[in-house]
Amino acid sequence: DASDIEKGTYPHYMLKEIDEQPLVMRKIIQKYQDKNGGLSIDSEIVEAITAADRVYIIAAGTSYHAGLVGKQMIEKLAGIPVEVHISSEFGYNMPILSEKPLFVFISQSGETADSRAVLVQVKEMGYPALTITNVPGSTLSREADYTLLLHAGPEIAVASTKAYTAQLAVLAIVAEVSAKSRGREIGFDLVQELGIVANAMEALCDSKEIMEHIAREFLTVTRNAFFIGRAVDYYVCLEGALKLKEISYIQAEGFAGGELKHGTIALIEEGTPVIALATQENVNLSIRGNVKEVAARGANPCIISMKGLETDEDTFVLPVVHEQLTPLISVIPLQLLAYYAALHRDCDVDKPRNLAKSVTVE
Ligand code: G6P
Repeated sequence: DASDIEKGTYPHYMLKEIDEQPLVMRKIIQKYQDKNGGLSIDSEIVEAITAADRVYIIAAGTSYHAGLVGKQMIEKLAGIPVEVHISSEFGYNMPILSEKPLFVFISQSGETADSRAVLVQVKEMGYPALTITNVPGSTLSREADYTLLLHAGPEIAVASTKAYTAQLAVLAIVAEVSAKSRGREIGFDLVQELGIVANAMEALCDSKEIMEHIAREFLTVTRNAFFIGRAVDYYVCLEGALKLKEISYIQAEGFAGGELKHGTIALIEEGTPVIALATQENVNLSIRGNVKEVAARGANPCIISMKGLETDEDTFVLPVVHEQLTPLISVIPLQLLAYYAALHRDCDVDKPRNLAKSVTVE
């Protein structure tokens, strides 16, 4: 049938979609590049962002995790305050809104009912809304004032991969364009840096054998696994843990390195896998301190670091990309680890139990 053709020679959609990420990066650069070679988005959207005194990102699941990274990018590059909210919680825990909020809905499918409920609510209140989605003409796209597309191509596997990195790339573009429109110098060329990201992704997609090996060593016979990181690595850890639990059913949690001592460290036993990300220079020493603490209690640490920050103990070293863009590449080993862990445990990778690709009920 048609779905077999789309999968091509790949055993699973998830693996195909992981591999498509470098292409998606190049497609996004192309789609958002203007004739002068710079990046641009619809001027109406730029005006809406410039007019806002605060951005409220609303999303669920993996898209929420992309929002957490997007907040850092928009705040650091453009200097606009950003809040990120889980869509299903927003109705009960509505923050005190600023005077001129802009709502940004991040949704791969554009159909998540919890996010749509918030959109309906904020439209009723008269606030502007932008949807960042992979699906043109989706409900969230139609009902918002503005849309930015991910251009990632259809994502079939329930576990989201290429949509996440596409969301990060589009959020980086939003951050850069907003910075420019506010007269701020970001200090690097985003087109060039996203090109470097695409190349790094390609190299990572070529390291499947290593990832399969690491998954076998750390994740075949375990009931739980922890992902630790600080700063933006923490947000990628949340996504890495989500990937692993979704498809391998290993109980996995992402934690901020500094929070370990406040509870989680009690769960460390002999052989507990702890995957640590170390891509940020300013927290490199402290996350390595956390690794020592868990290792001293019997954990089996797997350190994934960025070139330039690595030590002899590291399990895998990522190619260098700009420090604002590390989540775009540090997530790839975590996607592959989840994939191989699920495969080794005979799980249904593309259609995990109890989960749906898009959740259209509240
Ligand atoms: C479901 C999917 C997740 C996805 C979430 C949000 O739970 O299984 O992969 O992250 O919905 O979906 P959205 O389409 O709004 O990004």
